[in-house]
Amino acid sequence: MTDITALQSDILAQVAAASDEAALEAVRVGALGKKGSVSALLATMGKLDPEERKVQGPKLNGLKDAVAEAIAQRKGQLADAALDARLVSETLDVTLPTRSENAGSIHPISQVLDEVVAIFADLGFGVAEGPDVEFDDYNFTKLNIPPDHPARQMQDTFYVAPQADGMSHVLRTHTSPVQVRTMLNAKPPIRMISPGRTYRVDSDATHSPMFHQVEALVVDEGIHLGHLKWTVEQFCKAFFEIDQIELRARPSFFPFTEPSLEWDMRCDRSVPGKITFGTGNDWLELGGSGMVHRKVLENCGIDPNRYQGFAFGFGLDRMAMLKYGMPDIRSFFESDLRWLKHYGFQPLDIPTLDGGLSR
Ligand code: DAH
Repeated sequence: MTDITALQSDILAQVAAASDEAALEAVRVGALGKKGSVSALLATMGKLDPEERKVQGPKLNGLKDAVAEAIAQRKGQLADAALDARLVSETLDVTLPTRSENAGSIHPISQVLDEVVAIFADLGFGVAEGPDVEFDDYNFTKLNIPPDHPARQMQDTFYVAPQADGMSHVLRTHTSPVQVRTMLNAKPPIRMISPGRTYRVDSDATHSPMFHQVEALVVDEGIHLGHLKWTVEQFCKAFFEIDQIELRARPSFFPFTEPSLEWDMRCDRSVPGKITFGTGNDWLELGGSGMVHRKVLENCGIDPNRYQGFAFGFGLDRMAMLKYGMPDIRSFFESDLRWLKHYGFQPLDIPTLDGGLSR
């Protein structure tokens, strides 16, 4: 009978001496492979008589486990060492200037986001943020969309695996949950916008599974639809950089607003590939809005008998496409430098209202 202890220390010594992953693999095959020394011993078990097997079995299994564990451990060490070596050899000096042919520029979404923030800052709105992985409760329930509400199906939600906190989470399908976060944490008067990433199971030339929205929320005493209309108008004039615009409100439905309206802007698309705002016979959809539903105010601890609010949620990607004439939303997220060179913005051209939003 082979001396198990001697065999084990021999193999472990070989494992420790293996200086790279290939050498370690050779040791593994020599011990645990089909024709390996440990496998050969294990194969003899069947021929032993029962009493002997009771003694040898645990020993051989112990040998096999010890060898397997040593190999796994050594493998980890070798991988760490290989990574360390790579990190030392592949240094990158991020302070070097870029080559001019590879220079990036500001992505249109970042630009449009800065433009929107500049416009609303001028109107006295603060910027609020919320997480991309949102509580189901904030994305839906507190916004008056209970668990069995059909609006949940309308939103093509990405659900997230259960988390340690036991709460149900989703990738937020809109920026409206930031309304909830804001109202839970602040007392009126509230004036905020919340730009950010949103997610839905959807993909074609005008839909991307990840897209951007900007939410606006105002809560105070005596807020009415006139305030909503004025704000949407000011925003559109400033954003599209034209004084003459014509807006149209259509009745709509959102569980979190009552009444609910969708806004369109008059435009001319009679010349192919060109869009002019303020004239023409076409209408362009901007997004949804409404007076905050009293149940939503109540759900967020605000007295609906004293306070009223309006809110709207517009698509940022869509607005960027319209303003800067980009036909396909998917190209926003393809990281193609040629596209960015064509549509990107200069880093120092920071949008301001008096300096001009887009130059
Ligand atoms: N959250 C809605 C959506 O993504 C858009 C929206 C509609 C936002 C009405 C609002 C609103 O704040 O009042 O479909």
